[in-house]
Amino acid sequence: MMEREENGNEESDFYTAAAKYWEHIPPTVDGMLGGFGFISQTDIRGSTVFLKALFESKNAPSKTYALDCGAGIGRITKNLLLNHFKYVDLVEQNSKFLEVAKTCLKNYSVRIGSYYSIGLQNFCFTAKKYDVIWCQWVLGHLKDDHLVQFFQNCSMGLRPNGIIVVKENVTSTKHLEVDEKDSSVTRPLSQLYHIFQKSNLVCIKEEQQHKFPRGLYPVYMFALKPANAL
Ligand SMILES: C[S@@+](CC[C@H](N)C(=O)[O-])C[C@H]1O[C@@H](n2cnc3c(N)ncnc32)[C@H](O)[C@@H]1O
Repeated sequence: MMEREENGNEESDFYTAAAKYWEHIPPTVDGMLGGFGFISQTDIRGSTVFLKALFESKNAPSKTYALDCGAGIGRITKNLLLNHFKYVDLVEQNSKFLEVAKTCLKNYSVRIGSYYSIGLQNFCFTAKKYDVIWCQWVLGHLKDDHLVQFFQNCSMGLRPNGIIVVKENVTSTKHLEVDEKDSSVTRPLSQLYHIFQKSNLVCIKEEQQHKFPRGLYPVYMFALKPANAL
């Protein structure tokens, strides 16, 4: 019992510390990208090519509804998802960022369904609504168990042919790296594959993002489908 409580505290400290870190980050593209705002266009270009390839694949997802997870100020919604989907929802735990997102997206207000101000570890999917669930530069803020749970929930929120896209940093070593400053982890590829498998997800496409400055973590994109939907 004691052990569970200790784990529980440790876990909630991990999430509280991350929330506190992001409270002090300016609601700008540069803030979202840790001072690397200048890579945003390259990032969006890489994501566009990846997403277009998914639309051209067999059993492609429809283009009706996307969910932007850990959406920040709506950088991805505005520059990527709204170019391809009729409607987008955003989920982001920092309410200040979501307020800025509302302003940045005011010209698209009829195409934004909901702004959910909640951590992904607590987010519930209530319907099979989404063609694509886009998770970028946020999953390192979830503990492994919560990430598996989140992916399993995502699977229940997908429409037929729906896809989860993960775009995340990975370590260049085989080891997990912990960032105490923002309370996140960077996982090696092997650990991500293990989590996908545990979540009953199959990776149907994987690609490394190119043309990012040297010295950054390698960034990978994965397209995942629930194993029972293949
Ligand atoms: C590196 S920023 C990336 C923002 C956005 N995905 C982008 O690429 O522009 C990480 C975002 O994740 C959010 N975040 C951190 N922990 C979270 C959690 N547990 N649930 C949801 N969002 C979280 C932060 O508030 C921040 O907006």
